[in-house]
Amino acid sequence: MNILEVNHLKVWDVNSDKKIIQDSSFHLESGSCLAIVGESGSGKSVTCRAIMRLNSPSLHQAGDVLLKGENISNLSTKEIRKKRGRNVCMILQNGMSAFDPSCVVGVHLRETLAEHFNWSKNEIERKITSAMESVMLKNPRDVMNKYPHQLSGGMLQRMMIALAIALEPDIIIADEPTTALDTISQFEVVDQFIKLRERLGCSMIFISHDLGVVRKMADDVMVMKNGEIIERGQTETIFSMPQHEYTKYLVSTRKVLNDHFKRVMGEGLLVAQS
Ligand SMILES: Nc1ncnc2c1ncn2[C@@H]1O[C@H](COP(=O)(O)OP(=O)(O)O)[C@@H](O)[C@H]1O
Ligand SMILES: [Mg+2]
Repeated sequence: MNILEVNHLKVWDVNSDKKIIQDSSFHLESGSCLAIVGESGSGKSVTCRAIMRLNSPSLHQAGDVLLKGENISNLSTKEIRKKRGRNVCMILQNGMSAFDPSCVVGVHLRETLAEHFNWSKNEIERKITSAMESVMLKNPRDVMNKYPHQLSGGMLQRMMIALAIALEPDIIIADEPTTALDTISQFEVVDQFIKLRERLGCSMIFISHDLGVVRKMADDVMVMKNGEIIERGQTETIFSMPQHEYTKYLVSTRKVLNDHFKRVMGEGLLVAQS
């Protein structure tokens, strides 16, 4: 079953009349992870934001979005807001932007859960604490009382993953969730995403330009270029038999990087990593 279907999505800028997404159709199978890859500016973020109508008002869109078979393209703003978070949870590149800088981070988690569930204060506290522990955030109470700027980027991303765990959404959309992190935090956050999928078995769209992570995480890969989907297939097929010149280029660049890495670091480390 497809948990999400996007049919003939078009997005354009009303100020300049520029077409940003030409005519995209794709689907996400229930329980699977779809990676979107492609160079910067190819339309990955605009595509994902269009699903929940989160693009800026100057970007208009057409086409159908079906969530669990329900066409949500014509829902009112109020109705679509209810779907955000509860049904589709977005985790963005910069964890800092998700939190209000003037509140301690616990406020955002409590408010989000209170908005979507009729849980008591104690239940909310329990859900948050256990979700935070499961993403290896120690001393949940202390962390919840910190302001966003007092936490590292990696911790903020793990807070967002904890929130997703508590919300148990139908779909998680992660838009380059590790790009802004240092290497060690990247490793930890990717690890938490992998565990999240194992634990919730939830459906996920994962945007990343790290093809190593994509290969580990995704069942299917969709390649975008200039606002168009140029190739889509199962992850292993895309990596072993890319069809489009651009995909071949992406995969071979990765290979070259790998070969270089191997030469520099020796084979041992690479085996330990894979
Ligand atoms: N709010 C906006 N107004 C006008 N153009 C935008 C806006 N947001 C994104 N774009 C344009 O849409 C294109 C795709 O952007 P984006 O989806 O962010 O790319 P990606 O996520 O693949 O790096 C880019 O050319 C970008 O400049
Ligand atoms: Mg982007």
